[in-house]
Amino acid sequence: MARVLKHYPEVVLDPNTLVGRLDFGVIFGRTAPVHFEIGSGKGTFLVNEARAATEDDFFGVEWCSKVYRYAIDRIGRWAVKNVRIIRTDAAWLIKEHIADSSISCLHIYFPDPWPKKKHNKRRFVNDANLVEMLRVLKPGGVIRCATDHSDYFEQMERVLTNPQLERIDFFPTSYAEPDKGEWAGTNFERKYLAEGRRIYTLAVRKR
Ligand SMILES: C[S@@+](CC[C@H](N)C(=O)[O-])C[C@H]1O[C@@H](n2cnc3c(N)ncnc32)[C@H](O)[C@@H]1O
Repeated sequence: MARVLKHYPEVVLDPNTLVGRLDFGVIFGRTAPVHFEIGSGKGTFLVNEARAATEDDFFGVEWCSKVYRYAIDRIGRWAVKNVRIIRTDAAWLIKEHIADSSISCLHIYFPDPWPKKKHNKRRFVNDANLVEMLRVLKPGGVIRCATDHSDYFEQMERVLTNPQLERIDFFPTSYAEPDKGEWAGTNFERKYLAEGRRIYTLAVRKR
């Protein structure tokens, strides 16, 4: 039987009410490192990481209303205070509403691969979005990506090879224990690992 999803307005931002750049200090009521997950799906990563890193704040953007509603339900049920989520297009949100040097870590896990050549330009990790990602990242801020799609991974490596970025190690350890500060993984990561798919990861730090 399908779960009845509950709405928790306190965890949600309405894209229609945004004016200017977001002030995360106001949104979260404190000054803390902000993690921004692009395409947060059902919110697995947001909730687990927020529970493990209570001193940090977590902000997710998700386009699909079905999984977005699921994420709201999950965030609300766990009553995590350091997570907010918004339903809109991530590229638009970053370009229009995210302030310069305001993000400590951008998380991009299993973004839609758009495998057909003619659709490749829809991939989120592209040259135009990199300009905006570099703008919103703090110095020393990190971009973390994971995908099961080798061709998209090659594109990620190409786009993120940039003089303003240095590559750093990044090994997701799914099924680790988030309460001990270990990587909790995402929904798709768990699914793909269970299927035995190879997962490619990449992390870069802004110089
Ligand atoms: C394959 S799922 C991965 C979800 C999650 N990151 C995970 O690993 O379980 C990709 C998600 O990104 C969302 N998405 C794709 N393009 C987006 C965009 N431009 N803005 C916001 N969300 C987007 C999709 O709706 C989908 O939920």
